Amino acid sequence: MKIVFISGSPRRGGNTDFAVSYAISELNQTLKNADINEIVLRDLHIKPCIGCRGCMVSDWCSIKDDDFDEAFKEVLAANIIVEAAPIYWNSPPGIMKDFIDRTHAIYRGRFQRPMSGKKGFILSVAADSGFETHEDIMSSWLRVYGAQIKGRVQLLARESGDIEKSPIEMEKLKNFTESIVESTDAI
Ligand SMILES: Cc1cc2nc3c(=O)[nH]c(=O)nc-3n(C[C@H](O)[C@H](O)[C@H](O)COP(=O)(O)O)c2cc1C
Repeated sequence: MKIVFISGSPRRGGNTDFAVSYAISELNQTLKNADINEIVLRDLHIKPCIGCRGCMVSDWCSIKDDDFDEAFKEVLAANIIVEAAPIYWNSPPGIMKDFIDRTHAIYRGRFQRPMSGKKGFILSVAADSGFETHEDIMSSWLRVYGAQIKGRVQLLARESGDIEKSPIEMEKLKNFTESIVESTDAI
C-alpha cells in the first residue's frame, strides 16, 4: 500500500511541515507495510501551466524540463493521497496551485476518472479563516479525478510551533491521522 503526502507550504519548518511530519511518523509506526512518501513542493522545480492545451492531444504535460513528471507519477501510483497546505488568501499557496494546474493532462471530461479507487485526505492550516474556498479547490482536484475524499482537518495556527502548543489542534491532528489508518482497512 502506497501513501503519498503532497506538502504545499512555502515555509520550511512551519505548521504544515509539523503536521505532515507528525502524521507520517504515526503512520510509519502503525502501518508496518505501508510505503509512505512525501512530496515537498517547495523543494521541487515545477513550472506553472501555460495553458498550451498540448496535454489534451498528447495525454501528458508538454512541459518537460522540470520535476513535475516524477512527482505526479508518484501521486498516481499511490492508493492514498494526502494534500497538505496552509491557506494563503483563502486558497492554497501558489506552489500547490501550480502543481494542481499541471495535472490537467489527466482531465478527460467529467465521466473519466483516472483517480478512481484512490482515497483522498485534506490537511489545511490557517490563522483563522478561508477554509471553505481553500478546501473547495483542494477537494475538487481529488473529486474531479475520481478519488474519494475520506477525511479532512482544519488546523488553526499562525506562527511556527502553534500546533504543538495547542492541545485542541493536536487532538484534531491525531484524529485525522487515525482516520487515515482506518481507511487502510478497506485496501
Ligand atoms: C501570503 C499569506 C496569506 C495568508 N492568508 C491567510 C488567510 O487567507 N487566512 C488565514 O487564516 N491565514 C492566512 N495566512 C496565515 C497562514 O495560513 C498561517 O500562518 C499558517 O500557519 C501558515 O502555515 P505554514 O506554517 O505551514 O506555512 C496567510 C499567510 C501568508 C504568508
